[in-house]
Amino acid sequence: MKSSMILGVGHFVPDHVVTNNDLSQFMDTSHEWIVERTGIEERRHVVPGHGDTTATMGYRASLIALNNAGITAEELDFIIFATLSPDYYFPGPGVQLQEMLAPDHTIGALDIRNQCSGFVYALSVADQFIRTGMYRRILVVGSEVHSAGLDMTTRGRNVSVIFGDGAGAVVVGVAPQHTDNELGKSKILSTHLHSEGRHARELAVISPSTQHWVSHIMNENNPNDESYYPYMNGNFVFKHAINRFSEVINEALMANGVQSSELKLMIPHQANLRISQYIQQKMGLRDDQVFNNIMRYGNTTAASIPIALSEAVSEGRLQRGDLLMLAAFGSGFTWASALIRW
Ligand code: COA
Repeated sequence: MKSSMILGVGHFVPDHVVTNNDLSQFMDTSHEWIVERTGIEERRHVVPGHGDTTATMGYRASLIALNNAGITAEELDFIIFATLSPDYYFPGPGVQLQEMLAPDHTIGALDIRNQCSGFVYALSVADQFIRTGMYRRILVVGSEVHSAGLDMTTRGRNVSVIFGDGAGAVVVGVAPQHTDNELGKSKILSTHLHSEGRHARELAVISPSTQHWVSHIMNENNPNDESYYPYMNGNFVFKHAINRFSEVINEALMANGVQSSELKLMIPHQANLRISQYIQQKMGLRDDQVFNNIMRYGNTTAASIPIALSEAVSEGRLQRGDLLMLAAFGSGFTWASALIRW
């Protein structure tokens, strides 16, 4: 059976920086509260009407990833697009990206709905398609526009201060099967995926839905209806996150007979700096073994890991042959890990 590897990475974030002090103009919050509880100092928001959408940001990140991989869009066999904030209710943004990249290259485009774990789920699907020999080059994208859907009043402050907009992308391809140099060792070693739907409503956007369809919404015309905004039971999410992150990281280490001390880098989904620090401590990792950029971007859900990966590569934090752990937890609940020989 073949193996897959990441051939190229890229990311794109909108120019518009929103600081914690900016948010305190709209809601009762403060820079100190946000930094102490989440580690976030600023995030990016798209400017409505300026052209950045979930699909267009995914496209811009993809162009960089394709360039980094040294291939053209016409050489792709498949697209996998992870997001919880698609431009349209349907179709998903995978087909928009297909059109933007190469309209006559009519490859398949799959949309992934696994929120903060979406990128690792998408990477796992890409890995399986390459292992079986069905495809040779797959574009995997995570992109989110959260700002359009947040309650930017005091009512929504526990959620709205956390989330930001942005996109990241990787090109996954067939790994070489020789092992006589560092590049020859590169491969996705394993992926582990989990879910626990009993907690689906602890972090969710409920409307519009099959139970609260557009016709009801229009009839009710209720400006106090909060169900269009994300609901998050923050403490509950936090407690589950720290346990599930640790479990799924250990699952990957054990499956591969690897110790955490052997990891060159761990990139946790950027949910909350306190969560990342807790996992780092629990796994006994040094500061240089963990990559965090939530301070600058907030939580960008499916985009957070590929944005962080792209920055880590640009900063020279990963060399071919290094061991890289990706781990995520989020709405669903879903959680996942990927162990990669970079
Ligand atoms: N600014 C100021 N005060 C705020 C606030 C904000 N943005 N958001 C909430 N508060 C207030 C609350 O109203 C509460 O006030 P009270 O004590 O008068 O009732 C107080 O701060 C403490 O709220 P609490 O929710 O208990 O705080 P917390 O320490 O749990 O931190 C989160 C809140 C959301 C930061 C934290 O629970 C968290 O990070 N959870 C995980 C979130 C996450 O990772 N989500 C993504 C998963 S992928």
